[in-house]
Amino acid sequence: MRIGIFGAGYVGLSTAVCLAQQYDVELVDIDLKKIESIKKGKSYIFEEDLERLLNTAINSNKLKAKLLTEQFSPFDFIFITVGTPSESDGYINLRYVDSISKTLKERRNEFLLENKQTLITLRSTVIPGTTNQILASFEKEELANIAFNPEFLSQGSAVKDTIFPRRVIIGANRSCSSRALEEFYLETLEKSDVPIYKMSIESAEFTKYVANAFLATKISFANEMADIVEGVENADIDAIMEGIGSDPRISPYFLNAGIGFGGSCFPKDINALVRFSENLSAETPSILSSVLKVNENRPFRLIKLLRQEIGRLNGKKVAILGITFKPGTNDSREAPSLRIIQALWRSGVKVNVHDPVLNRIDLSSYQMFNIEQFEDVVSCLQDVDACLILTEWPEYQKLDLETITKGMRNKIIIDGRRVFAQKHIPDSIRYLTIGSSKNRSPAIFNS
Ligand code: UGA
Repeated sequence: MRIGIFGAGYVGLSTAVCLAQQYDVELVDIDLKKIESIKKGKSYIFEEDLERLLNTAINSNKLKAKLLTEQFSPFDFIFITVGTPSESDGYINLRYVDSISKTLKERRNEFLLENKQTLITLRSTVIPGTTNQILASFEKEELANIAFNPEFLSQGSAVKDTIFPRRVIIGANRSCSSRALEEFYLETLEKSDVPIYKMSIESAEFTKYVANAFLATKISFANEMADIVEGVENADIDAIMEGIGSDPRISPYFLNAGIGFGGSCFPKDINALVRFSENLSAETPSILSSVLKVNENRPFRLIKLLRQEIGRLNGKKVAILGITFKPGTNDSREAPSLRIIQALWRSGVKVNVHDPVLNRIDLSSYQMFNIEQFEDVVSCLQDVDACLILTEWPEYQKLDLETITKGMRNKIIIDGRRVFAQKHIPDSIRYLTIGSSKNRSPAIFNS
């Protein structure tokens, strides 16, 4: 079986590497740098197990990385995994899906089997209607069959989520297409009891958005509750969320209060869904708008706590622990850290930063804020007026607070991710966190 994966981004690379443990896979992109690095077995994204599996696949010749301009032979399965970025107004940009579709058609003799035996499956997140709008002509002209199959992999666990998905969603116009993809997944997946749901292409497209919208709603809900909890003496958001999460109707996941969601998916997808819905009904969906509004305000919550603790910010020095939008990745796209660092810089604060994968993060959008980078936490905290924790890296959980705070001008820690919320805090340290009345000064209660 020959598989072609078009788009060597996060989803394309993870999917290609995992499938190449079993099948002959060609991963195709237009970016020479990406293709060269993949050929050398170097993953440009930081993801557990990915580089090891990439090397296995390259060495066994099961995975070939190729530029789109090279020569190809027809594939049995084609997966399109190109990016669908946001425009500045929140609308989704489909130019990459459009362009690859045109190329597949123009060079059909190279890419597609005769007698429409190839199944072209779109995996990029797209607004409902897009797959048929862009790809239905392959079916109309009897060139190939099409399907939509959303990905649900999370950064930090992309390999695990690809090999052991929680569910598979297949959207197709023709039953032969959904059957072919179902059989492909049954043969491929190690977890044989994974539920497979077959539906229309539009429902499948929508399922991806609704899943992300619901998860983001849980996070904003937890964050709003955390703000209310802060005003109640002796109350703690973790205990409350644990209490409600045991109810299977609620589930314990995605209820961690903090500084809000970031990354390349939730902010982009919720905005795209809002714009899409406005176009359909001329009304702004109220729950989704509130989810975004709560999230946009999260970074300022932390700045407010900082001001209450150290007063005027101008001329102060602050250490930031954690840049990435979540642990286990080197991705800082839409990370809350960017907006916090920007706000600090605007207020005249000098910012020191540390992150366990600092040398693998693209810091280009942070450079203008004059950040100083540190490879160890103790040096990062030296002579600072306060420390803000913005990513819950497991490495931070293991830190000894007394040791790392020794050189601080003021031993103030403001924990945006509740890394130390359940730990003993030495008396010498002033510790504040989201969603807890513990360690709060009377001044904060009165604010
Ligand atoms: C998300 C979804 O979880 C995946 O299922 C989906 O496939 C993916 O988007 C996508 O659309 O491709 P991802 O963005 O990698 O995955 O990361 P998440 O683990 O969902 O975290 C997103 C953000 O929410 C992070 O900034 C994280 O810190 C924040 N978060 C998450 C919280 O603030 N609280 C929580 O309880 C959970």
